[in-house]
Amino acid sequence: MGSRIFYIKTFGCQMNERDSEIMAQSLAAHGYREGQEISEADLIIINTCSIRAKAEQKVMSLLGMLRKEKKDRPALKICVAGCVAQQEGEQLLRRMPHVDFVIGTQNIYNIIELLEEQPGNKKVLTAMSDAYDIPRFIPEFQPENHLLPSLLARPFKKFVTIMQGCNNFCSYCIVPYTRGREISRNKDDIIDEVNVLVEHGVREITLLGQNVNSYGLANTVTRNGSPYSFPLLLKDVAQSGLKRLRFTTSHPKDLSDDLIQCFQEIEILCNQIHLPVQAGSDSVLKKMNRKYTVTDYLHKVDALRSSCPDIAITTDIIVGFPGETDRDFEQTMRLLEEVRFNGSFSFKYSDRSGTKSSGFGEKVTEKIKAERLSRFQARQDEISLEKNSAFTDTSMTVMVESINTKGFQGRSVFNHVVHVESLLPSAPGDLIDVTIFHAGQHSLQGRII
Ligand code: 5AD
Ligand code: SF4
Repeated sequence: MGSRIFYIKTFGCQMNERDSEIMAQSLAAHGYREGQEISEADLIIINTCSIRAKAEQKVMSLLGMLRKEKKDRPALKICVAGCVAQQEGEQLLRRMPHVDFVIGTQNIYNIIELLEEQPGNKKVLTAMSDAYDIPRFIPEFQPENHLLPSLLARPFKKFVTIMQGCNNFCSYCIVPYTRGREISRNKDDIIDEVNVLVEHGVREITLLGQNVNSYGLANTVTRNGSPYSFPLLLKDVAQSGLKRLRFTTSHPKDLSDDLIQCFQEIEILCNQIHLPVQAGSDSVLKKMNRKYTVTDYLHKVDALRSSCPDIAITTDIIVGFPGETDRDFEQTMRLLEEVRFNGSFSFKYSDRSGTKSSGFGEKVTEKIKAERLSRFQARQDEISLEKNSAFTDTSMTVMVESINTKGFQGRSVFNHVVHVESLLPSAPGDLIDVTIFHAGQHSLQGRII
């Protein structure tokens, strides 16, 4: 048993990245080692994403390629995890007979049980429950985890999952179906996990959830049942001795005044928020079931900027939602001019079967979606460059992330990627003051002060 090697490939979001770490840690604690290549692995885990058709196609094409690998090496085990696994369940074994195991989004903590209970048997573990209690899980620094290259890659910077699932049912989104109802993790477990991480040298934590703003709203999060909220959690986590704290993702409708105040009150909370708006037209937002108007969103942006004047705001945009007219799209372009996001992730609307909008008429053609997307992205790039250029000749503190032959790459509190040429020794996790001398669309260049 001691010599088995696993290889894990992760698609999609940061939630999936964290879930992959958890599966990797469970495997390491049971004698597996992590390999760097598919060819050396006895077990391949594909952690999948189905948010857009393109993401799912990537997963399916990798699974298709693994058919030959399995034929050449019949003892190889292939396990599919994540949103595609949850969605397809048993069906995946029929469509892809070379797949051995299917593990759903609420079952990752049981991966050993799935793999080892009845060796050789094909199995599916995709049960979901509204009362799912996210397990207590802190094996991060057990000695066996030092065998895990993926965990050692950035030992000073970690994700901590604080909630699972989503109750919002935006009409385009598959997540409430693949990740289930919103469940907040027990507060004491979160704080314990953060403390263990900090004790072992972690300096930056990102609290993760589909909608962290509603942490604690949907259910009880303390073992004794006293009221608790995301702003209180941020304050408690900030006591841990961390250097930097971030969170993602936020839903504008749940961004409370208390949370906005946190940017003023909590020193280590980075000046940065990802606040997906999705569209700049009220009628599209209504059809998307987003539960806010453009005016509501702009008020939140104003409040954030009053609390933290230099806060960097990034967003997600969907272009070509069913029924989106030229006029609606122009309103999205106008919103971009009004807010001037520091950056954005923008996507062409993608029909996901089972979602409400997949049944909507007036689908926008691929050609128009592509035109709108490239127009939006071109303007966003200009704005990002203008915003980044404002940092030229200013100084900022950079946390070192990786060292290269010329110097290092790190991040600012605003979450810019900063490249620094330097011969001075530095280590990942170090905080170094630099002056910015060049700005690009997606990164800055600095020199040590
Ligand atoms: N089509 C296109 N983009 C989508 N997103 C979610 N569902 C879809 C879809 N069906 C985008 C949203 C969300 C981000 C994670 O992915 O912008 O915020
Ligand atoms: Fe999807 Fe909306 Fe939930 Fe985000 S808030 S995961 S877009 S349903």
